[in-house]
Amino acid sequence: MIPKEIIEEIRYRSDIEEVIGSYVTLKRAGSNRNGLCPFHSEKTPSFTVFPATKSFYCFGCGAGGDVITFTQKIENLDYVAALELLATRAGITIPNEPSAGGTPTVSRKRIYEMNLEAARFFRSSLFDPVLGREAMTYLVENRRLSGATIKRFGLGFAPNDFSMLTTHMRRAGFSEEELIQGFLSKRSQRGTLFDLFRNRIMFPVIDTAGNIVAFGGRVMDDSKPKYLNSADTPGFKKSRILFGLNYAKDHCAEELILCEGYMDTIAMQAAGFQNAVATLGTAITQEHARLISRYTKRVIINYDSDEAGQKAADKAMLLLDEVGLPVRVLKLTGAKDADEFIKRFGNDAFYSLLKNSNSAFDFKMEKVLAKYDLGAAEGKLRAARELTALIAATHSSVERELYLRAAAERLGISAESLGNDVARARARQAREARKKESRELQLSARNFGDRVNPDAAKEPATAAAEDVLLGLCLAFPEHRKACATGEVNVTAEDFYTGFGKRAFVALTEAENSADGFSFSALGAIFTPDEMGRLVKLQREREMLQNNGREVLLLAVEALHTQRRTREAKATGDWQGELAMRRAQMKKKNDSK
Ligand code: UTP
Ligand code: MN
Repeated sequence: MIPKEIIEEIRYRSDIEEVIGSYVTLKRAGSNRNGLCPFHSEKTPSFTVFPATKSFYCFGCGAGGDVITFTQKIENLDYVAALELLATRAGITIPNEPSAGGTPTVSRKRIYEMNLEAARFFRSSLFDPVLGREAMTYLVENRRLSGATIKRFGLGFAPNDFSMLTTHMRRAGFSEEELIQGFLSKRSQRGTLFDLFRNRIMFPVIDTAGNIVAFGGRVMDDSKPKYLNSADTPGFKKSRILFGLNYAKDHCAEELILCEGYMDTIAMQAAGFQNAVATLGTAITQEHARLISRYTKRVIINYDSDEAGQKAADKAMLLLDEVGLPVRVLKLTGAKDADEFIKRFGNDAFYSLLKNSNSAFDFKMEKVLAKYDLGAAEGKLRAARELTALIAATHSSVERELYLRAAAERLGISAESLGNDVARARARQAREARKKESRELQLSARNFGDRVNPDAAKEPATAAAEDVLLGLCLAFPEHRKACATGEVNVTAEDFYTGFGKRAFVALTEAENSADGFSFSALGAIFTPDEMGRLVKLQREREMLQNNGREVLLLAVEALHTQRRTREAKATGDWQGELAMRRAQMKKKNDSK
């Protein structure tokens, strides 16, 4: 366990606005900030950061918590790993403590150390005149890489053997568990470990801080899979990493070239286009798009000229447009990808290609225009309809204006009438997006019910009273204290739902502990989804006017009554229950 004062320090030094702002574009909204929720798909911002209480909450999907919960969710980490990440970011050292029992997740730091050692091993295998002969020949002769480029990218070779790496790593002090979690070794049926990467050219994936976070390994012939990539490990999430960004980051302030793969990026950078990066064996994600938007102002998409590449380019244009980046698309002719193009036609030819690359819109417009016979009215009409939809989907109004004029000119229609169609299409698209959003939210609510507190459906009235009490205790220290000290007569046994009971115990125990209550420390006990619920309860309470002791007492009384009813039912004491109900009715009538 990480000591509580360290947790508090990490939370204190990790400015929630800054951390979240590095993933989500936040806009000022009074004393709060809001933006598009990174945890569900939406077009209107319902994700809110509250700097005053150092928390966040999404009114759309219910995600919420503190800076630690956010990091857990967005980086897909457990509580401790999220703390480690934030600690590193804030320059705080977490004291090492041996963990007791179980198989704890290997820390990020350890994974990086392990990958560094493995990269050294792969590299010396590549440079070994016997072991690495074939691989070196492949790189130098088939792929035309210089020695300097091979070294710059830290390329290596995984020998054609089942145990060389594992043996080397075990000798270097890495445990079997670490090697398995780090995606370097796997356990065989017989129970021994074997190397996962065999007879492959190894490409280390390096993050912007210089850590080796993963490997890609390519075969040297036509066997499958062509590339083997590290699975997501505690140190690595594919959707958040761009290959080559460790170098490109110093050269891409104005413009960034987005490639499809390892070899394209290396070939581009070696040819002097140092602003080239690639996603790793996955299509570009929203997270990639946000990451890119933090480093550059414009993007040139440089994907393979085959169909798969062009489809991927369409998706990339969409996502990059969403984060507000202007995009151009490179049109490769005479080669299947940039690597091949540069080899065949040289750097200068590629440079002029870059300069003449089409804007994303031109690129799409040409594709539409090529599909139809514009000489016929029918063809013209259909092309106009498709272009209208394209223009309507563009976020920036300046860009829409430009595209409108270009399209009108090509079609020989007035920009005004085309503009009217665009306005109508935009209204329709907005309506559909809103419908889709609410449909998705409803669906997710229906399918999963209340996942955080599944018991709530069985006794909604009790659950509601529990929520009031928990909300009050979360939002107001004086109520928490009153419950924890027993000044107000309520105990865990008064709670019905499992979640409510756990939350009440955690809150009161923390309040009574020597360190006192800390919201962040709850992250060790509750999942990110549960943390979201706690923030929700707190926020909803804070937004109400009436939060005094009398509200607390009413909630406690409701819990008591409902508990007695439950207990009466359980013992089959129907008479007792009847008497209870009668008493309740009477009370109600009396108070009227
Ligand atoms: P490509 O098949 O275009 O490979 O896949 P490439 O990068 O051009 O490599 P060369 O030039 O044939 O050597 C593009 C990217 O897709 C991912 C890799 O990241 C690759 O660089 N990929 C491809 C995989 O992850 N696994 C595969 O089996 C194939
Ligand atoms: Mn290629």
